[in-house]
Amino acid sequence: MPEVIRIEGGHELEGEVTISGSKNATVALIPAAVLANGPVTIVGVPQIADVRHLSEILRILNVDVEQPSPDHLIIDPTHMKNVDLVDDVVTKLRASYYLMGALLGRYHHVRMRMPGGCYLGPRPIDLHLKGFEALGATVKYERGCYDITADRLVGDKIFLDIASVGATINIMMAAVYAEGRTVIENAAKEPEIIDVATLLNKMGAHIRGAGTNVIKIDGVKSLNGCFHEIIPDRIEAGTYIVIAAAMARKMKINNIIPQHLEALLMKLDEMGVKMDVQVDSVTIEKSEHLKPIEVTTKPYPGFATDLQQPLTVLMTQAEGVSRVEETIYVERFKHCNELQKMGAYIDLSPACAEIHGPTPLYGTTVSATDLRCGAAMVIAGLMADGVTTIENIYHIDRGYDHIDDKLNAIGAKIWREKVPDED
Ligand code: EPU
Repeated sequence: MPEVIRIEGGHELEGEVTISGSKNATVALIPAAVLANGPVTIVGVPQIADVRHLSEILRILNVDVEQPSPDHLIIDPTHMKNVDLVDDVVTKLRASYYLMGALLGRYHHVRMRMPGGCYLGPRPIDLHLKGFEALGATVKYERGCYDITADRLVGDKIFLDIASVGATINIMMAAVYAEGRTVIENAAKEPEIIDVATLLNKMGAHIRGAGTNVIKIDGVKSLNGCFHEIIPDRIEAGTYIVIAAAMARKMKINNIIPQHLEALLMKLDEMGVKMDVQVDSVTIEKSEHLKPIEVTTKPYPGFATDLQQPLTVLMTQAEGVSRVEETIYVERFKHCNELQKMGAYIDLSPACAEIHGPTPLYGTTVSATDLRCGAAMVIAGLMADGVTTIENIYHIDRGYDHIDDKLNAIGAKIWREKVPDED
């Protein structure tokens, strides 16, 4: 029977929440670990479905994956076999595509199914593939599978037409064992890219410039195991910060890197949210009379597309018209349709939403159409009058570590229920 999340709204929140390790770093660090010739230990691993699915994929590759404690993974690829990744689990998440770069880098061959992940409109991977081709690979797509092969991988200069997070990381993975120097120009600068480069460098790679728009990778012959602690999840942090701004009397959010959240914190300041930012935490107090704001999503360090959806919910309580312009995924507005069902007044036009506030929200049945839409529905449910039922919660469980436990601990009323299948 499928599970739903139910939330009884209107409860003021108070207390502390600790942020888990970054999902989008973890899902790249796990594939990166298979490039090593010994065990890689990763700590701060979030307990989310994407990690369970990636571990399952690694086991198909005969990689030994141990979990001595819930946030701790030991990945030992010593006896890895490069088998075709055609199992359904590959399609359950987007990040399985990082195994393209990793396996191509290590074996000069990979065959795998199309990756899955949230539907946010078209999500091509042409830049990843062009990067592999520039290093000397041939890419074929037949019967739903990518077949990527190279006799040799040789470093080259690769210019990304779009500063893609996924393409930057995937090319880095393919290039660590390539002959000579690879230069990625117009590389993405997200903190998760620095985290992956840090892991690879600890393993013995030569990657310079991660976090800037030019990354240089000098190929090496061998990589060893290492120990790595994942950076905190800036999107989970941003989600709880928005929750606090919406519903907290006083709430402290621990284990954050404020610099990674600057664009969000500046926008909340503009709205009039009271915040006290410390070295690795932020405390937020109840704020009245929120002001409307305008947000345009941009690659890091601009305003993250992943936080546009949670922030839209807070905008429904601002006094006036707020505006969201989405430049990364122009179709990422399904949460607005769900919010309208709860009473929000939102005008949608291509790539843009205008949110008229303040409007009360009412509990009803909504769908987590994608991961961050799910987060937005949780926030809306906490704010709404009555009970909100969220369907398709597997999206939420793909990326939020124990969201119900973390919220119940600070005074929310949120629970899961199994419901009969609809015919
Ligand atoms: N793009 C192309 N061709 C490519 C690759 C990307 O046209 O080959 C386009 C995309 O369609 C998009 C833009 O470039 O319009 C940026 O996409 P990017 O490659 O940067 O995104 P991604 O790597 O697929 C990651 C996160 C997303 C996050 C985006 C943007 C992971 C696993 N996913 O996706 O996270 O929204 O970067 O920051 O790291 C989420 O966590 O909910 C999520 C969707």
